[in-house]
Amino acid sequence: MKKIVLLYWGKGGNVERVAKKMFAMFNPELTDMYDVASFNVDNIESYDLVILGGSTIGADHWKEASSDNVWASFFRKLEEHDLTGKSMALFGLGDQVLYPDHFVDDLGVLKEEAETVHANVIGSWPTTGYTFTNSDGAENDMFYGLAIDEDNQPELTDERVKQWTDFIKDALGIED
Ligand SMILES: Cc1cc2nc3c(=O)[nH]c(=O)nc-3n(C[C@H](O)[C@H](O)[C@H](O)COP(=O)(O)O)c2cc1C
Repeated sequence: MKKIVLLYWGKGGNVERVAKKMFAMFNPELTDMYDVASFNVDNIESYDLVILGGSTIGADHWKEASSDNVWASFFRKLEEHDLTGKSMALFGLGDQVLYPDHFVDDLGVLKEEAETVHANVIGSWPTTGYTFTNSDGAENDMFYGLAIDEDNQPELTDERVKQWTDFIKDALGIED
């Protein structure tokens, strides 16, 4: 049985709401969910699939090295581990209308991090159906993971989450 962990940041907004929808698509006996700040990263190698998501809210959010930056300190701990043979699936929230030049850039940051720890990134997602000019989170008309726009396309979120999680379950042979 494949074990799954769903990790997200931040709390109390769109990311957390979408993470909960995603969690509901998986067998709760095989799936754990934590916000990134509450997760003990030393347990990460006990999972076969890591689903990791966040929102794009500016470069400082990711890169600033101060100790109170949740992502930076999570990445530092993650990099002590080797996820060779494990799968990682990414989701990112953004706003394609207000930030068309940086739409879901966070997916690019997450993908780089996944590659740093040698995880196999699965769950790329077509850019069809979104309107934006540039994204660090996409190449060759595919996002590195699921892009969600709760600001402008909230009516599409449920179906996107369902399709994407179905795809991931199929790819890894995960049962409901
Ligand atoms: C200060 C700020 C900066 C943002 N920058 C971007 C951006 O560069 N690219 C993008 O796609 N969305 C950007 N957004 C939109 C958020 O990613 C989007 O609203 C997301 O759903 C917020 O999730 P949350 O409620 O969990 O924080 C920004 C939002 C804020 C408030």
